[in-house]
This record gives sequence, C-alpha cells and structure tokens, in this order.
Amino acid sequence: MKMTTWFFCSLLLVSVSLAQAEAPKTQEMTAANSDIDEIGDGVKEEMTAVERGKQLHNDNCLRCHGSDVYTRRHRRIRTYAGLINHVQRCATNLNKQWWEDEVADVADYMDAEFYFFGGPKK
Ligand code: HEC
Repeated sequence: MKMTTWFFCSLLLVSVSLAQAEAPKTQEMTAANSDIDEIGDGVKEEMTAVERGKQLHNDNCLRCHGSDVYTRRHRRIRTYAGLINHVQRCATNLNKQWWEDEVADVADYMDAEFYFFGGPKK
C-alpha cells in the first residue's frame, strides 16, 4: 500500500515536470513562426519602417483624400509630433487598432515623402 502511494506520487511529479518542460518549447515555436510571414494588412516583418508605413498608408489613408493634402500650401501639420498625433487620430477614427510602432511607421513614411521634419527630435 505504502509503495503504491509512493509510486503514484512520483509518477505525478514526473508528468508535471514533463508538462512544464513542454510548455516553453511550444511558445517558442509559435513566436518563431509568426515572425516569418505577414504581420497583418499585407505588411511583412522584413520590410523597412518606411516601407511598412507606405503600405499601411496606401491601404488605409487614400480613401478620402490624396497625398496632395500633405503638400498643399497651407497644410495643417507643422511638427513631427503633430504628425504622430494626426496619424493616431485618423487611425482611431477608421477603427484601426494600430500599435504605436505602426503609427510611427506611417508617420515616418509621410515624413520621408511629404513633410521632411526629419523624424522625432531627440
Ligand atoms: C474618412 C475620410 C478620411 C480618411 C480615411 C483619412 N483622412 Fe486624413 N483627412 C481627412 C480630411 C477631411 C482632412 C482635412 C482636409 C482639409 O483640411 O481640407 C484630412 C487631413 C489629413 C491630414 C492633414 C494634412 C495637412 O497637413 O494639412 C493628414 C496628415 C491626414 N489627413 C492623414 C491621414 C492618415 C494618416 C490617414 C490614414 C490613417 C487618413 N488621413 C485617412 C479625411 C480622412
């Protein structure tokens, strides 16, 4: 009787530690897989920030206006911080749940192509 209890206890311990050893491995594999392909909206991990921003911008932001509003004479955006704010506000209005770095990618693309603020001031 005592031996059987001991046997089951150690069996339980072994299976618990096996399960723990398995867990991190599967997490690692899913993380590695999702790094390779698309990370959403046709955007791929290996693109540069400006390329990702351009793709996100062209897919989402040219429905109401062309890029001519960014270069018109009395354009409203005056600073890089203002650009970030505006991109964030437009994305929220469009029901896009963009991460902070997606907003920054779009702002970087628009800065490189139309605004020339030279990025965030350090
Ligand atoms: C639902 C329509 C709509 C969509 C979609 C839209 N915008 Fe706009 N956007 C506007 C309107 C309207 C204005 C103001 C135009 C004006 O003042 O004449 C504007 C103006 C802007 C300006 C200001 C330009 C300047 O310097 O004066 C920026 C920057 C801008 N949009 C960025 C974006 C970005 C980035 C997206 C995508 C996330 C986007 N817009 C999507 C309607 C839209």
